[in-house]
Amino acid sequence: GKGEYDHFMLKEINEQPTAIAQAIEGRIDPARGAIDLDGFEPGAFEDIDEVQFVACGTSYHAALYGATALNRIGISATAMLANEYSVAAPPIDDGTLVVAVTQSGETADTLNALRSAAAAGAETLTLTNVIGSTASRIADKTLLIRAGPEIGVAATKTFSSQALMLVLLSRRIAADRSGERSGDRRSLLEAVESMPESIERVLDRSGAAAVARRYGDSQSYFFIGRGFGYAVSLEGALKFKEITYEHAEGFASGELKHGPLALVTPETPIFAVFTGTEDEKTLKNAEEAQTRGAPVIALCPPGHEATEIADEHLEIPETDATLAGLLANVQLQLVSYYAATQLDRSIDKPRNLAKSVTVE
Ligand code: F6R
Repeated sequence: GKGEYDHFMLKEINEQPTAIAQAIEGRIDPARGAIDLDGFEPGAFEDIDEVQFVACGTSYHAALYGATALNRIGISATAMLANEYSVAAPPIDDGTLVVAVTQSGETADTLNALRSAAAAGAETLTLTNVIGSTASRIADKTLLIRAGPEIGVAATKTFSSQALMLVLLSRRIAADRSGERSGDRRSLLEAVESMPESIERVLDRSGAAAVARRYGDSQSYFFIGRGFGYAVSLEGALKFKEITYEHAEGFASGELKHGPLALVTPETPIFAVFTGTEDEKTLKNAEEAQTRGAPVIALCPPGHEATEIADEHLEIPETDATLAGLLANVQLQLVSYYAATQLDRSIDKPRNLAKSVTVE
C-alpha cells in the first residue's frame, strides 16, 4: 500500500535512496575501483566499440544519460527512440552492443527494436526492473536495476536506477576495453556509494513544494540543461506534462536561442539544470530567458554562480559531475508532484496513459 503517503508516486520518489542502495549492493568497491556486474565476467565488454541504446519515454531519457556518460569517456554511443529504430536503425558492426532500456521489459516498441538488432547480428543487453520479462528473454544478457515494484504510472525511482546503472555500465565498459586505471574510478564510485545519502538530503529539504506553489498557474514550463542536464530537462518536462496536464518542454540550453526563445514570456518559468559541464553557457542561456521576463529556477549546488541571478534555487548536494543530474531530477520529480497536487490531478494514473505500453 501507500503507507503514510497520499500517492504511490510520492512514496516511490521517497524510496529512491533504498532503490539506489539496492541497485549498487555488491556491485561496486570504491577502494579497488571495481564494478562487478552480476553475470558479466571481467573483460566481458572488451570487444565493445560502440553502444546503441533503444528505449521509449522516460527510459529513453535514462538512455540519453547513459549515452552522454559513454561519449564523455570516449566510447561511441547513441540513444535512439525505439519507435524510430525500425525506420532508420544505425548500422551494426562486430563491436556494436545494443542496449534496450525498459523498466517493464514489455514495451512493444522497444521489443521490436531489440528483435531487429538481434536479427542484424548485434550483441544485445536488456536493462530492466523485471526478471524474466520479454525484453530480458530476447537479449543475450540482462542487467537488473533492482528498483522494486513501481505502481505510479509516472516512472520515478526506475529512472534513477536506470541512469545510475548506465553510469556504472559505462565505466565498466571503459575498464574492460582500455584497462582504464582503477584509481580513475575511485572518486566516482565513492560518490555513487554516497548517492542514497545525497538523495536523502534532497528529499529532506527540497523547496520544490514552495516553487510549485509560486509558479503553479503559469502558461508553460520550460526545462533547460546541457549534457546530463539535457537528459534531465527532457525527463523533467515529460514528468511535468504527464501528471499536471500542463504544457512543458525540455530543451538543450544551447537550443533556446535557435527558436524556443520566441515562446518565452513572464508566464513561462525556466528550470535551468546545472550539472557542472559548461555551466557558464547554461547560465547565459537562462539569463537570456530572464531578460524576456521569465522567472529562472536554478537547480545547482549551494554557492553556485547561478544562485546570484536566479529567482529561485533548488539545491543539488555536491557530488560527481556524472551524478549531479540525478539529484536535480529528484528535485524536478518533486516540483511536478506538488504542481499536480495543487491542480488536483490523478497523479498515480494520469488520463490516457498506461504503465506498460504493449502496442506500437
Ligand atoms: C513516463 C513513463 C513512460 C515509460 C515508457 C517506457 O513516466 O513511465 O514514458 O518510460 O513507456 O516504458 P518501459 O521503461 O517499461 O519500456
